[in-house]
Amino acid sequence: MIVLGIESSCDETAAAVVDSDRRIRANLVLSQLDEHRPFGGVVPEVAARSHLDHLDKLIEAAMREAGIGFDALDGVVATGGPGLIGGVIVGAMTAKAIAAVHRKPFIAVNHLEGHALTARLTDNVAFPYLLLLVSGGHCQLLVVEGVGRYRRLGATIDDAVGEAFDKAAKLLGLGYPGGPAVERAAKAATAPVLDLPRPMKGRADCNFSFSGLKTALRQRVDALRAAGQFDANAQANLAAGFQLAAIDSLADRTRQAVRMARETTPDLTALVVAGGVAANAALRQRLSEIAAAADLALLAPPGKLCTDNAAMIAWAGLERLRLGDSSPLDFAPRPRWPL
Ligand code: KG4
Ligand code: ZN
Repeated sequence: MIVLGIESSCDETAAAVVDSDRRIRANLVLSQLDEHRPFGGVVPEVAARSHLDHLDKLIEAAMREAGIGFDALDGVVATGGPGLIGGVIVGAMTAKAIAAVHRKPFIAVNHLEGHALTARLTDNVAFPYLLLLVSGGHCQLLVVEGVGRYRRLGATIDDAVGEAFDKAAKLLGLGYPGGPAVERAAKAATAPVLDLPRPMKGRADCNFSFSGLKTALRQRVDALRAAGQFDANAQANLAAGFQLAAIDSLADRTRQAVRMARETTPDLTALVVAGGVAANAALRQRLSEIAAAADLALLAPPGKLCTDNAAMIAWAGLERLRLGDSSPLDFAPRPRWPL
């Protein structure tokens, strides 16, 4: 089987072709970063128009790279939500049109399911596994029991961790997007700030919180600025301190989730991390220690399959198609769509 996948739920326009032998035949991502940078964040209207301007040519290029025509496809997959609704509509309508013209099944997939199943594309991991899903819009721990079978153990009660990285970068004057900028700045730290809070650490549930950490960081930055001491050195030390606190909190919550998941699911096959923040090398390192201590493999897809892409959407659609699942052509894109 071979499918075309389309992703357009945020600020990446993406098209990919993936087959059931887990081969990525094309994986093109066009970032809109430069269009949103002047605004310091993603502007939904700008995003939707940009998806519309670029998606058809990107699909053409992906099909050319894969060396196939639309008639060879077994299905056309698009992100059906959650996300910025203008962009989701552009991607879903495009997929429906291709599917209708070429009489192929259309599959609308949940963007989070794309992230959740990526490790099956890259590492062929078997169900059930524990998933830490960490992106700009989401922060959750789930037991992935099967395609469409996700048991949530915990989630953030305020900001997603990627959002926290983005806000921290803004506070520190590190620019946008924040995650990679914080990680880069942290590498130059000479004395990381160690006394920022570790939200939720030690709690019996598996929830997350990042707003307190963000506030603590803001107070430190404000105080240093007022004292005229906010220089490049302070910036790096605070970036490292913030990253360390965020990772400590993620690590503690994940350790708790391993314990909780094993009570009901003793046969966990792996600890999987997915979503944009999974591109963070320090986080991967920490998670590999947690996995080793729990006698689990850590599976972390390569960075460019962690941040938003269409290969993960194509793959999730393929998994559904293999189970006989498809979506009606009157599927309505969903701005909110819990997993
Ligand atoms: O999955 P993704 O590409 O889009 C969403 O679905 O949200 O995740 C984007 C998020 C952003 O908040 C970005 O700052 C964060 O992932 N991110 C990182 C890193 N690379 C991307 N956070 C920390 N360290 C990184 N290296
Ligand atoms: Zn995402």
